[in-house]
Parts: sequence; structure tokens; C-alpha cells
Amino acid sequence: MPAEGPREPPPVLISEEEISGRVDELAAQISLDYADKGEIILIGVLKGAFVFLADLARRLTIERRIEFIALSSYQYGAESGAVRLLMDVRTDVRDRHVLIVEDIVDTANTLHYLIDMLRAREPASLRCCALVRKKERIRSEVEVDYLGFDIPDRWVVGYGLDLREQYRTLPYIGIVDP
Ligand code: IMP
Repeated sequence: MPAEGPREPPPVLISEEEISGRVDELAAQISLDYADKGEIILIGVLKGAFVFLADLARRLTIERRIEFIALSSYQYGAESGAVRLLMDVRTDVRDRHVLIVEDIVDTANTLHYLIDMLRAREPASLRCCALVRKKERIRSEVEVDYLGFDIPDRWVVGYGLDLREQYRTLPYIGIVDP
């Protein structure tokens, strides 16, 4: 079998500059909305949200704390809709202002599961921020409070997003054919 050659860079869907501009706007809006609320807890959903969370969190002007949560994600083509908790947050969110930070909302099953789970812990407030959303694919009734971009139903990679663990550190969001 021939060795895998260098990969072609995926075509750009959202450029580095567009992402950066939108993250600035989201951070400004979130900072404004939470200005009088005290510390917020940002919960990044691993692995995909690590880049977005890092950029967003550093642009906020409000007090914030960083937490991560890991959920099982499906392989492309095998969407059972079942979500499983792999790693929980390390802090009690009761009476705290919580903002979930997601990389991508596809069917929204993951977000739905997460919101139900966190809501049961009685935070003072619970909102969600997602970088991209595939609007046509959404199945669950979930409100995204802060959204970066609506995108078409294509497999996207980069800026934290992967295809079988590849492309996560690509600086822009590109389209691949899985
Ligand atoms: P959900 O369907 O909204 O629950 O999304 C499940 C997970 O699938 C996401 O958190 C991502 O990890 C992954 N995912 C869905 N679509 C894409 C994509 O286009 N690129 C990379 N990951 C994706």
C-alpha cells in the first residue's frame, strides 16, 4: 500500500480573519450581558471546543473560570443519537452563571444532553455559545444563545474540529469530504 502523501489543505469555508472578527463580537456581547453578574463558568466541550474556548475566554472582559467536559461523540455516518459523559466538570455549578462553549452544533443531541444534565444541578443561569451550527440538521429543540456562524450540511474541520483526529490545528474552518 502506498504511504500517505502530504494532505491537500481543505478549501476554506470560514477564514481565520472572519473567525477572529466574529469571536471578538461574541466576546464583546457576552462581556456586556454578564457585566453585572460576577464570575461566570465557561464549560468547554472537549475536544473540539478547545481552540474556540481559548480565543473566546481571552477576549472576555468579565471574571471567568474555565472548566471542561468530555462527551462521547459519534463517528461520521453512525449517528445513534446516544450521548455519554466521559469526563465531568470539577466544580459545583449550583447558583453559578454557566456558559457552555461548543465548537459545533450538528443534530444538537450533545447540547440537549448537556443542558439537561447541567440544568439539574441548578445553576443561577445556563446559556450556550457555539461557534458553528448546521441549521438543516438540528433535531433537538435547543436554543443557542450566542452563535458564530450558520453553515451548510458539510463536514467541517479546523479551529479545533477534526476528521478522525486530523486537522484540529488548522487555523481556519475548511470543508472535507469524509
Ligand atoms: P451533535 O450532532 O450536535 O450532537 O454533534 C455531535 C458532535 O459531532 C459534535 O460535537 C462534533 O464533535 C461532531 N461533529 C458533527 N459535525 C461535525 C463536523 O462537520 N466536523 C467535525 N465534527 C463534527
